[in-house]
Amino acid sequence: MRKIGVLTAGGDAPGMNAAIRAVVRFGIYNNINIVGVKNGFRGLVEGDSVEMNLSSVADIIHRGGTVLGSARSKEFIGEDGFQKALKNIKYLGIDGLVTIGGDGTLKGALALGRSGIPVIGIPGTIDNDLPYTQYTLGFFTSLTTVLEAVEKIRDTSSSHGRTNVIEVMGRNCGDIALYAGLAGGAEMVIIPEVENNIDEVCDKIMQGRARGKKHSIVLLAEGAGNAKDISEQIEKITGITTRYSVLGYTQRGGTPSAYDRLIGSQMGAKAVELLCCEKFNKVLGVKGNEIFHMDIEEALSMKRAFDRKTYELTKILSI
Ligand code: F6P
Repeated sequence: MRKIGVLTAGGDAPGMNAAIRAVVRFGIYNNINIVGVKNGFRGLVEGDSVEMNLSSVADIIHRGGTVLGSARSKEFIGEDGFQKALKNIKYLGIDGLVTIGGDGTLKGALALGRSGIPVIGIPGTIDNDLPYTQYTLGFFTSLTTVLEAVEKIRDTSSSHGRTNVIEVMGRNCGDIALYAGLAGGAEMVIIPEVENNIDEVCDKIMQGRARGKKHSIVLLAEGAGNAKDISEQIEKITGITTRYSVLGYTQRGGTPSAYDRLIGSQMGAKAVELLCCEKFNKVLGVKGNEIFHMDIEEALSMKRAFDRKTYELTKILSI
């Protein structure tokens, strides 16, 4: 392995820079040249890349976003674009590729792996929606951002005696809402994994009011409904003034947490190590305190297990 490429694709996530830095520095330490592919798979299609050195990744470990840029490339999915990407990989002399991103990125990596390009996937998405790994890079930073917003909204919720619905990201996965709900003491979480029962949500709010609670926070995952509709329904049923906030892209940016920097660094180095010892077409994941790897195809065929225990606990603790 003489030259390794690294790219970040899909929605960016805090901690991606730590992973890029580790790929570059661990690669150079092992006498491997590293090329950074710009803007995800689009950069492969367009042949847009930059040779990386030790200084290219100086002063980035603490920064959100990705210094390589990211994109969702439609061209790469088409046959023409994919062939261009393969050609550019050869032209650039890339012997192995590290892809950092979510579900779509890992699917892209699998397609390249099937075409004979040695790949390693690093799970980078705030959504925490990949079935094979306990956590993804960026998830915990995003949670912290959500919690900061929850605390601020709770202040004004108490002052005005309102219900506040807070919509968070996650696509079809409710983990951001669920974990922020537990850690932020929300009255209720509404997530796609559980059928939305608005009456139960309202009962919970009314129970809280009955014992003197001044605020009510409902965390809504974007995949489970629309914040405006849900707050209108809650207000109609409970008679309590209900406001909503959509946190949006604040959840994707910001200084990565210690945990995301740690797993980003460990995974970046591990990806290079695997490529060097010819363990190709793997994804990295987290299980307990360990970074593990498994076959990319197998990982993508797995079904996500819903964390019902955490859901039930969140409900119990908000009585
Ligand atoms: O996958 C990360 C994510 O932020 C999702 O939570 C969200 O639904 C989506 O990306 C937004 O995508 P885009 O960046 O294309 O607007």
